[in-house]
Formats: sequence, structure tokens, C-alpha cells
Amino acid sequence: MSLQLKNFLADDELNKEQLLALITLAINIKNNPADYSQVLAGKSIAMIFEKPSLRTHVSFDMGINKLGGHALYLGQQNGKLGERERVSDYAKNLSCYADAIVARVFSHDSIQGLAEHASIPVINALCDLYHPCQALADFVTLTERFSDLTKLKLAYVGDGNNVSNSLMIMAATLGVDFTLVTPEGYEAEQSVIEKSQAIAVDSGANIKTTTNIKAIGAQDVIYTDTWISMGDEDASKKAELLAHFAPFQVNHELMKNADASVVMHCQPAHLEEEITTELFDSEMAVVFQQAENRMWAQNAVLTSLFSQ
Ligand code: NVA
Repeated sequence: MSLQLKNFLADDELNKEQLLALITLAINIKNNPADYSQVLAGKSIAMIFEKPSLRTHVSFDMGINKLGGHALYLGQQNGKLGERERVSDYAKNLSCYADAIVARVFSHDSIQGLAEHASIPVINALCDLYHPCQALADFVTLTERFSDLTKLKLAYVGDGNNVSNSLMIMAATLGVDFTLVTPEGYEAEQSVIEKSQAIAVDSGANIKTTTNIKAIGAQDVIYTDTWISMGDEDASKKAELLAHFAPFQVNHELMKNADASVVMHCQPAHLEEEITTELFDSEMAVVFQQAENRMWAQNAVLTSLFSQ
């Protein structure tokens, strides 16, 4: 299937047809993995990780293996991106050997630098601004559960971060009703909100933002993520931050108030902070379905990139 994708860097690069095609492909690969077992035969994927990872590392490594390819993990042993050598040189060197680059980086600029200078596709495996592989997997999970996404009401409660940015942009593209609920001072960047609202004009999506948890309204699904993202840790401010976020904890009471039946979390979860253990372990949580779908969603992206 050709989606005319050169890279997979940020959610706003995909239109509705491309996103729906990726979701359908992910579900098809999940149901018929043997049909895709040679997609990456003879291909090698370099995976750069500037930050820790469990799901992203394992799901890319094992997913690439399931497509018949070879994955190479590059941690920090070669020095920080852009310090030991320029991002452009890193990209050009990897292009000599690899067929694609998967990168988890601190700054979106690094992802853009890699894509600009590599002659091979680059996939964003999380940066400060976006986490498109996660959002794609989440909309695969929501499609499995609800089928018609345009009737879905999804609220994200917590820190306005890379995960909420990607969800908001993809929700806008897909025509999903999306409410972003964040504490004051932790809202999404205005540019991302404006981008999502502009995309929503075409799709008919309703994109709302609020800092009032009581204004969450009726929802089908509530999503949350850590209150402190990788790279934002500051031990001296932690107690103050936890107190500021406390009213935004996702728990059974919030689920009941919003009349929501499904709770999502990209993990790792900080139990008793952004979500209660009881809710995370409950039947309402689809967190391991989300985790599994990371692999199928990423395999859909890889299959599309290599089927041009
Ligand atoms: N917002 C989190 C997501 C982790 C998968 C972070 O960036 O640390």
C-alpha cells in the first residue's frame, strides 16, 4: 500500500485518508502477521534512543523481526546526538548502512535534522513535542473498541505534553471529539492547539481545552499520562507539582462523573499520581491492548514506508 510517506515525524503530516489507511493496515497486520513476514527482508533499521524506553524499544525490535528485518539498538554509547558529532553527520553515516532510522530524542529539532540529512526514512519514536507512534496505536485501540471514531468522545486529563499533542492532532484529523483538561500552567502549547483547531475545521472534530476538571463533561474515554515527562524531572519541585496536579488524578470518581467506560494510559504509569492503582488494574483499562498495538501500528508505518 502506498501512502506516499517519506518519513513519520509528526502527526500533522498525515491527512485523514492516510491515517485511516494506517489504522486499517495495522489491524490487518495484527490479524494476518504471516502475510507481512517478508516486508523488511534484507533490511536493517537503526534505532537511536536518547531517553529510556521499554515499550518503544521492544515493540520496534520485535516488530521489525516479525516483518523479516533486522533492528540495531543505538543508545548513548556513541555520545549525545549533536555533541560527539553533528546530527547531520549522524544521519549521513547511518544512511550508509541502514534502510531506516527510528529515533527517540529530546528535541524535535533533532528529529527534523535527522530527516533533513538522512537519505532513508526517519520515524519519530518520541520527542519533546510529539509521540506519533503512540497516538497511532491508541487510535488503533479505539477503532477496535468503538469502530466509528467520529462518534467518540475522548478526554485527555493531565500534563499538556508530547502524548496529548499527538492525540489532539490525530483526533482533529480523524474527526474525534477531543477535550484537553490540564492544570493551569501545564496547558498544551498554543501553536499545537491552533494547529489542531485549524485541522478540525475540515474534519468536523470538536477540539476543546480547559483547566477546570469539573468542566470535563460526558466522555466515552479518559486518557492520562505521567505528570512529569522524561527530561522534565526536577526533584526540588516534585512535591509542589504533585499537589498542583492532585485534583486532576484519573480515578473511579472521575470516570463516574464523566460517565466514561474506558481509561487509557501510554505507560509507564506512576500509580497513585496521575492514575489510581485500582483503576489502572480494572476492567476499564485498555493499557496492555494499547501497548500491544504499538507494535502493529509501527509495523503499519514501516510497511507503508517500504511499499512506495
Ligand atoms: N510524556 C511521557 C511519555 C512516555 C512514553 C514522556 O515523554 O516521558
